[in-house]
Amino acid sequence: MKTQKTHSISKSILLLILISFTSGIFAQSMETKTSILNGQDFTDIKGTVITAHGGGFLKVGDYYYWLGENRKNGVFVSCYRSKDLMNWEFRADLLTRESNPTLDRANIERPKVIYNEKTKKYIMWMHYEYGRDYSYARAAVAFSDNIEKPFTFLKSFRPFENMSRDCTLYKDEDGTAYFLSAARENYDMMLYRLTDDYLDAKEQIATLWPGGHREAPAMVKRGDYYFLMTSGCTGWTPNQGKYAYAKSILGPWSDLKDIGNSTTYDSQSTFILPIKGNKKINYLYVGDRWDGKKYSNSTYIFLPLTFENDSTMELKWVDKISPNVQTGMID
Ligand code: DGJ
Repeated sequence: MKTQKTHSISKSILLLILISFTSGIFAQSMETKTSILNGQDFTDIKGTVITAHGGGFLKVGDYYYWLGENRKNGVFVSCYRSKDLMNWEFRADLLTRESNPTLDRANIERPKVIYNEKTKKYIMWMHYEYGRDYSYARAAVAFSDNIEKPFTFLKSFRPFENMSRDCTLYKDEDGTAYFLSAARENYDMMLYRLTDDYLDAKEQIATLWPGGHREAPAMVKRGDYYFLMTSGCTGWTPNQGKYAYAKSILGPWSDLKDIGNSTTYDSQSTFILPIKGNKKINYLYVGDRWDGKKYSNSTYIFLPLTFENDSTMELKWVDKISPNVQTGMID
């Protein structure tokens, strides 16, 4: 009798411990974040790890959208949104294996999305591979009426017959859009102007740093200068990031200059995100911290870019940041 009673008391204690432990974790995951902790796991508001690598960002209304690579369960591109850049909500999978028959054995990297005011469509460009290696080296295009709804896959192709691997999109202030991608076995960085509907490459404009072996392009305009950040080509292993600047996107572009430390703080560039507040426009560097052995262990870093004068860009390490999207300040 005594033993039975002791048993049920210890059972209740165990249950209590379990409940308080799990509700503790739950409470923690539901807490509103007040900063981004660099180099740590990035979770969404449900506490689930964010899978949006090689990603791009787009502001729509009050929301920042983050769209990037997902490599789980046949999903290629996932979409999250946030009003403060710290608390992200998963919204949808935008591109999956089922989106198109040519995606059955595909690998999609570095998706980027821009909005076309004329056609009222969101246009996604990305790096497309078929099978396990990187020999297809194609660009691909998809579109959607709604940034939170599945995209229609249009095609994969080599722009002007060039190989096309790491890539990005850039939409200029006048609405002209550009696609940059690594060509000729990553030796050249190509710059293309897109057609008015952004669904095709209209013109091959320039070969940036021929033979320079650059990838992971991320472009932004600040004041009178365009900045283009890239990495070297060392697979999943990080290397020295570099940037160049130009007064016209068509060039001439400056020489490549080092930015950050010799491993770009153990990351590779994917995007430069402007935060336009009522006090200031600041710029965030977004980089992937790849885990080449286990892709799903890869994380992200968000670091403020600073500009000592109009054409110099600097990247320093900070453990955490608290962006204020109202003022544009980053603490
Ligand atoms: C570096 C690229 O930037 C990534 O997107 C990916 O293609 C890896 N190389 C693959 O090694």
